[in-house]
Amino acid sequence: MSGPGVAGHEWSARRYAETVHFVPALGAPVLELLAPSAGERILDLGCGDGVLTEKIATAGATVVAVDAAPEMVAAARARGIHARVMLGQNLTFDGEFDAVFSNAALHWMRPPECVLAGVRRALRPGGRFVGEMGGHNNTAAIIVALSAVLGRRGLDAHRLSPWYFPSAAAYRSKLEEAGFAIEDIRIVPRPTVLPTSIEPWLDTFAGAFFEGLPPADRSPARAEVAELLRPVLIDETGTWIADYVRLRFHATRPG
Ligand code: BEZ
Repeated sequence: MSGPGVAGHEWSARRYAETVHFVPALGAPVLELLAPSAGERILDLGCGDGVLTEKIATAGATVVAVDAAPEMVAAARARGIHARVMLGQNLTFDGEFDAVFSNAALHWMRPPECVLAGVRRALRPGGRFVGEMGGHNNTAAIIVALSAVLGRRGLDAHRLSPWYFPSAAAYRSKLEEAGFAIEDIRIVPRPTVLPTSIEPWLDTFAGAFFEGLPPADRSPARAEVAELLRPVLIDETGTWIADYVRLRFHATRPG
């Protein structure tokens, strides 16, 4: 449900809970789209610290949760969730779930083709795949600022980006090519109030962009990114609002 689906990204469950706790809190619409019922067997793909997974279990479903980040899996287990470390690109399940659910995680999992093949395999015929991820233009201002600051240093931010933010048309094609039928897919702009300034957000999510810089230059580069974004993302009350755009979908594995 949170971002942790990327291999090699450093995830801290404590920092996640402190700086981006809005991620599961804003997952209500996709949870509603999932509409879990008692007795169903559901896979939560990219479960993060398990806050949303717990809600699925509360509906009476049996939930298996996976995440690429051991620290996030440990946090989910501490909530009593049956969670294990597994890459979304290497799912090992076969025809055993009524639904696969994913919130704010699929944009960390590339290539999408491997993920979609594993999700389809994991579902029983007639099972559903319901998810939400970053969509086309997600965090566009932040990406442009990263690109400008890294460009000044001779680095290509687009090459360094760990993120995948497809349009509805592009992801529809990927889903169909993987053998899904589309019930609904849409882009939902969702300006997102940050509980902090942009710097902790960058520390939590954008480390990959700064890793190519000498350690002594990372903090100045991060400050330059924040400086470029201040006039764009801070409103007149002084609140940082990130330019999130969601891609929300409901697809099925034909029976
Ligand atoms: C997102 O959930 O949209 C997101 C998370 C991390 C980095 C960029 C976007």
